[in-house]
Amino acid sequence: MTKKSIILGIETSCDETAVALVQDSDDDIPKILSNVISSQFDIHKEFGGVVPELAARSHLEKINLIANKAILESNVKINEISGIACTSGPGLIICLSVGLNFAKGMASALKVPFIGINHLEGHALSPKLHTKLRYPYLLLLISGGHSQYLIVNGLGEYERLGTTIDDALGEAYDKTAKILGIEFPGGPKLEEFAKRGNPNKFKLPKPILNKGGCNLSFAGLKTAILRTSREIKNEQEKFDLAASFQKTIEEILYVKTKEAFKRFKKINTTNKYNFVVAGGVAANSGIRNKLKKVSEENNFKSIFPDLKLCGDNAAMIAMVGLEKFKNKQFDNLELATSPRLPLDENAKFLKGPGVTLD
Ligand code: KG4
Ligand code: ZN
Repeated sequence: MTKKSIILGIETSCDETAVALVQDSDDDIPKILSNVISSQFDIHKEFGGVVPELAARSHLEKINLIANKAILESNVKINEISGIACTSGPGLIICLSVGLNFAKGMASALKVPFIGINHLEGHALSPKLHTKLRYPYLLLLISGGHSQYLIVNGLGEYERLGTTIDDALGEAYDKTAKILGIEFPGGPKLEEFAKRGNPNKFKLPKPILNKGGCNLSFAGLKTAILRTSREIKNEQEKFDLAASFQKTIEEILYVKTKEAFKRFKKINTTNKYNFVVAGGVAANSGIRNKLKKVSEENNFKSIFPDLKLCGDNAAMIAMVGLEKFKNKQFDNLELATSPRLPLDENAKFLKGPGVTLD
């Protein structure tokens, strides 16, 4: 029996220090041997957002400990590791550097290949850690920094259908939560607030709903939340505003996803349509239900990562690392951090096809 490759993955692009080990398997679903995540919520909450210098310092303090913990939990001997994968971008440059330098050090000490990973590709492929996924599939990537519809044609092959022209969806959740006095990071708690309110109490705008193709916009919604919040008279109305926000987001995603389905079907003539929703915001149960509904209505199968794989983690980085390792797509130790690394070629241009508003 041939030995299965084992990849150690590292993620330090923002405020999670994470290390995981995954192993190749015969059924095409890599086995997660360990998946350790240390969040920095407590460090940043008093500032209402991530402070890059504090985040980087915390990564530096913890990375060795987290890596040791992940190796111990995996029951893998250090000389059994086949390669080291690490997020090289996008993210906060001083945070990315901590992970990348640690990864390069490990790879050169162990004399194994080093592989730089696009963090967004980790999210994009994350359901592959538990589901067999065939290319091409439609992807909605909704996280703290990105909101995009993409066609995933294969490893490293992305075609953008639309993107946010201002704020990312996670950012809209976090900013709305802040306005409502909810502690950072507000997204998950805002969802709880919304469950206690009347979603029809406040009418909020849905920017560029019927124009701009699959592009998204949330900045106008945030302004409306700020204005409406000044009129709030009691605690119940806070819940009502959260519920109205949640409902508005669900309705925007319903319409835009339908548009993305239409475009995907035009380009791809297969009778099996898969729709993956990934990134931190994909943990939101209201959004999941709405997107399941629109998928069923349009003959798409909706696929969501397990909840523990929606937010930032290193298992998704190790898994992409394993795919690249099998293709011998290694990087040399000069690889630099890429704070703005896009997933698709179009995103390099400010006025790419995905950002027009016709
Ligand atoms: O993917 P992620 O962990 O980090 C980035 O790559 O950005 O996404 C984090 C974002 C945050 O904005 C957080 O508030 C949001 O995902 N988020 C949620 C929920 N859980 C996390 N937003 C809405 N509802 C949730 N349940
Ligand atoms: Zn992320």
